[in-house]
Amino acid sequence: MSGAVPTPGTAADRPLRVLGIESSCDETGVAVVELPQGARGPAGPRLLGHALHSQIEMHQAYGGVVPELASRDHIRRVVPLTREALRQAGLTLPEVDLVAFTRGPGLAGALLVGAGMGCALGMALQRPVLGVHHLEGHLLSPFLSADAPSFPFIALLVSGGHTQLMRVERVGHYQLLGETIDDAAGEAFDKTAKMLGLGYPGGPALARLAEQGRADAFALPRPLLRAGNLDFSFAGLKTAVRTQLLRLEAAQAPIESARADLAASTQAAIVEVLVSKSLAALKDSGLDRLVVAGGVGANRSLREQLDAACRRRRIRVHYPELHLCTDNGAMIALAAAMRLQAGLATPSEAGHFDVRPRWDLSTL
Ligand code: KG4
Ligand code: ZN
Repeated sequence: MSGAVPTPGTAADRPLRVLGIESSCDETGVAVVELPQGARGPAGPRLLGHALHSQIEMHQAYGGVVPELASRDHIRRVVPLTREALRQAGLTLPEVDLVAFTRGPGLAGALLVGAGMGCALGMALQRPVLGVHHLEGHLLSPFLSADAPSFPFIALLVSGGHTQLMRVERVGHYQLLGETIDDAAGEAFDKTAKMLGLGYPGGPALARLAEQGRADAFALPRPLLRAGNLDFSFAGLKTAVRTQLLRLEAAQAPIESARADLAASTQAAIVEVLVSKSLAALKDSGLDRLVVAGGVGANRSLREQLDAACRRRRIRVHYPELHLCTDNGAMIALAAAMRLQAGLATPSEAGHFDVRPRWDLSTL
């Protein structure tokens, strides 16, 4: 695709405008991000328009994401959401310089919707198209917040499918330090929530129930806490919770307050491991900045405990804005703009219509 895009370092005197499309799982997100080019002072990226549709209600009846339904719903939503994002930005389609979409990882059929839309727009508008790594989007999303980080930093990526600690030197340089060997942190929240009879997605519901419970009520395992590495393991946690539930049922104990206690104890176990491993990564690396990204980054208890632990050690912690913690188009637009600006993506590379349902961030 050979569209003329103002690239960093050229004499373009207006910011780069990027349309970002996210459709990797159960949220359709479209957003427009503006990134100042060249020597335009310290101004950071700006979010001009942001439209999102969550499929939570649709999948709730099934207790989890149904891939085929997800793809069909993305198809229904992506055009109206694109119109809405552009309306909010006060822009028309020809004023977009670059189109970005989530290339992976994610559900293949769902990803293909964003890829199809992105490539079709690029072709129609004669603009370059860039496929973005979903986790790179999460990881860079704090750059859209008022308290943006600076490189290098340690990143804790905690989403429904991933739990990773990374050393981030600069855009595109992601060194994996440790990751989960089984379930992701978000998955641990979701699976425990399901056992406790809470809806899908379980993370926010479990966090709400935990507020009414005692975090020290049940002694749940802290897997790999003292393993001396930066890997995680959360699969044993759900087994421990199931065992406790079976015990409560067998004893015919009053289940209501026990449910809240179990939720609080589960959350405490997950949070303690995440905080402890993040601190270890910071200590090992000698870095004094932490970026937390992904859906679980919205968890209040995690934020409070990370903030307290890092304050004591004079470490700065950066989060995305709360509404940009879970999946959205803004992080995809931003990651594309930052890659382009860093010289890591050239327009000539753009426009490959393909998706990568499995894609390791450290191979970027
Ligand atoms: O990053 P994300 O939106 O999607 C993926 O890329 O996976 O993360 C979704 C995950 C789900 O597991 C959800 O339960 C969890 O983030 N989550 C939370 C909270 N909000 C979302 N987990 C704990 N507390 C929350 N407040
Ligand atoms: Zn995500």
